[in-house]
Amino acid sequence: MNLTVIGTGYVGLVTGTCFAEMGHHVTCVDVDQRKIDNLNKGILPIYEPGLDAMVEHNARDGRLAFTSSLPEAMRSSDVYFIAVGTPPGEDGSADLQYVLAVAREIGAHLDRYALVVDKSTVPVGTAEQVRAAIDSELEHRNVRVDFDVVSNPEFLKEGAAINDFMKPDRIVVGAESERAIDLMRALYADFTRSHDRLLVMGVRDAEMTKYVANAMLATKISFMNEVANLCDRMGVDVENVRTGIGSDSRIGYSFIYPGCGYGGSCFPKDVKALIRMAGNHDFVPAVLEAVEARNEQQKGYLFEKIRAHYGPDLSGRRFALWGLAFKPGTDDMREAASKVLLRQLIDAGASVRAYDPIAMDVARDELPAEWFGDGRLTLVDNQYDALRDADALALVTEWKPFRHPDFDAMRRLMRPDPAIFDGRNQYQPENMQSDGFVYYGVGR
Ligand code: UDX
Repeated sequence: MNLTVIGTGYVGLVTGTCFAEMGHHVTCVDVDQRKIDNLNKGILPIYEPGLDAMVEHNARDGRLAFTSSLPEAMRSSDVYFIAVGTPPGEDGSADLQYVLAVAREIGAHLDRYALVVDKSTVPVGTAEQVRAAIDSELEHRNVRVDFDVVSNPEFLKEGAAINDFMKPDRIVVGAESERAIDLMRALYADFTRSHDRLLVMGVRDAEMTKYVANAMLATKISFMNEVANLCDRMGVDVENVRTGIGSDSRIGYSFIYPGCGYGGSCFPKDVKALIRMAGNHDFVPAVLEAVEARNEQQKGYLFEKIRAHYGPDLSGRRFALWGLAFKPGTDDMREAASKVLLRQLIDAGASVRAYDPIAMDVARDELPAEWFGDGRLTLVDNQYDALRDADALALVTEWKPFRHPDFDAMRRLMRPDPAIFDGRNQYQPENMQSDGFVYYGVGR
């Protein structure tokens, strides 16, 4: 089939590339000409393991093309995936201006049957708005063509995006017409060979499913973070509690790791958007509000420990920060706990040397320029270099190279009485003491 994917962010680029990999002809469209020029040179806007090689060979074999012109892509396409951003507006609701602009452009050029697929995470009711936007353009042009709008939310995780797309747990399709359902089944046939994983439901149900999946996972995390806070006060090690409850198959081991809060482009945004949707229906989502509030507090957890240890004035104190990305395996720093901690440390007068295996370029672009002046924040190329003359280490992202560091070398580099503030419970408290560190974990 000939497919068009609009939006070359995480979801769009992975979707387009994986469909090309399955033999379809895919054109990826983006309004950002610089992004398109780069993609045509093989330069990707995101870091995702394995994606660059897949883009390269599919482009070379003529199955994957990039353009900034949607009308040009539409000449040879019958299926349109809308995968543009839905950033949170001021009130937390998802901003649909990009989705609806794409819908209008499709309507302005459509001349035969098309399947329009909402891939972006969009509030319940968006497919109806997309349909209306296309309809109104068609009406304006006085053109009558049939089209379907379906919801097909994406559940991929950054860092594991290709695998998640190629081997999905399920494919959710919200569709009303048989024609659209048949087309979606045909499109995803190669991804569901071993057993049928395609779940067909109402359009609004599919839109809601995406939010609820993310909100449920965020709830597990915030719940465990709350439990960790409690364990801290009660002399209980939350890591033992975690394995103790995870072994119950009804609870499971995943997404119950306490830490310094969830970040990324999805959980914070989607929980806020769902709260907003509830508000629009005069409903108070007490659980979701608590999930969100707990997460905000949790991002300040390490700083609370630091302040309790050193007092409120940190002038003259030096910190090493390990991990800037919101999680390992990505260079994405959106809503990362590292940003909250950096601000708190710098506001309290401390200086910080920070290191991340992948996110250094993103950090240079994203963090406030004034932090880099007068040595308050220095980005270093090596995890040990960050420790030079530091009072303490704060670990915020659980990258593998941080797992088994050389503690002797660390102690030699650091100031006397070094402390470790471990925001992801990577080390064993009992070993830390004998290694000569004051150790703080989360809930231990
Ligand atoms: C998430 C969903 O997993 C994915 O299905 C959806 O499509 C997009 O949102 P992603 O944002 O890439 O994916 O990251 P994920 O691996 O889910 O982690 C999210 C955040 O939760 C990270 O900040 C991570 O550190 C944190 N987390 C995760 C915890 O604090 N504890 C856990 O036990 C698991």
